[in-house]
Amino acid sequence: MALLKLEDIHHSYKMGQINVDVLKGIDIHISRGEFVSIMGPSGSGKSTLLNILGCLDIATRGTYEIDGNRIEKLSDSRLADIRNEFLGFVFQHFHLLSHLNARENVELPLIYRGMWGNDRKRKATEALEIVGLGDRLHHLPSQLSGGEKQRVAIARAITMEPAVVLADEPTGALDSHSSNNIMRIFKKLNKELGMTIVQVTHDYEVSLHGQKTYHILDGVIERIENVESGGGV
Ligand SMILES: Nc1ncnc2c1ncn2[C@@H]1O[C@H](COP(=O)(O)OP(=O)(O)OP(=O)(O)O)[C@@H](O)[C@H]1O
Ligand SMILES: [Mg+2]
Repeated sequence: MALLKLEDIHHSYKMGQINVDVLKGIDIHISRGEFVSIMGPSGSGKSTLLNILGCLDIATRGTYEIDGNRIEKLSDSRLADIRNEFLGFVFQHFHLLSHLNARENVELPLIYRGMWGNDRKRKATEALEIVGLGDRLHHLPSQLSGGEKQRVAIARAITMEPAVVLADEPTGALDSHSSNNIMRIFKKLNKELGMTIVQVTHDYEVSLHGQKTYHILDGVIERIENVESGGGV
């Protein structure tokens, strides 16, 4: 059974009197442990699709299931539970809080889940060690490089051990060296921790780190590319 199952997904945005159709019938099944990329030109609907995968938005039409749970049928509180249990998010511009150091940023989702004291510090530290920042716990975002900030954001996404990491242009603000580091970390999360990774990217080189690429054009999947060396860095 697919862990993430999108069937005939359509999505429109209402702009005054008119509906702008952005997704026009998307079918994607993603299994546990897959590492997939979504690629396509600007405006093709990639972020819209990722927002639906992340339950930040509900599709106008079609069905979405996470581990057999029909998303559009869930109550708000059940939806929040599913999001917490299954999903971690990584964004292009990191979204770190500037007045909190690396460990405090990673502790945020743990605070929301009611974890306190040394347990919380230990868990945040472990996540930062996984991304290779065990020696940067007390640095503020302004004292970190772009690549390091993204690694803190990844630590924050994985500290609750989600089944899935969803990333929207995770290397979009980084140079190629830092991008490779981020891909190495994604591969580690995928291979060693069994996390399912779904990344949106403009960059063909970056897409090749996944095992499969969904090419999206004007709101439809134009083709699916199986990457031979997928997951390699
Ligand atoms: N909240 C919104 N209201 C109205 N239209 C929107 C909204 N969000 C996105 N759109 C439109 O939907 C289309 C797809 O947007 P989306 O952000 O999904 O594209 P994208 O593929 O992620 O592009 P990019 O590569 O530039 O990030 C665009 O034409 C955009 O203008
Ligand atoms: Mg986008």
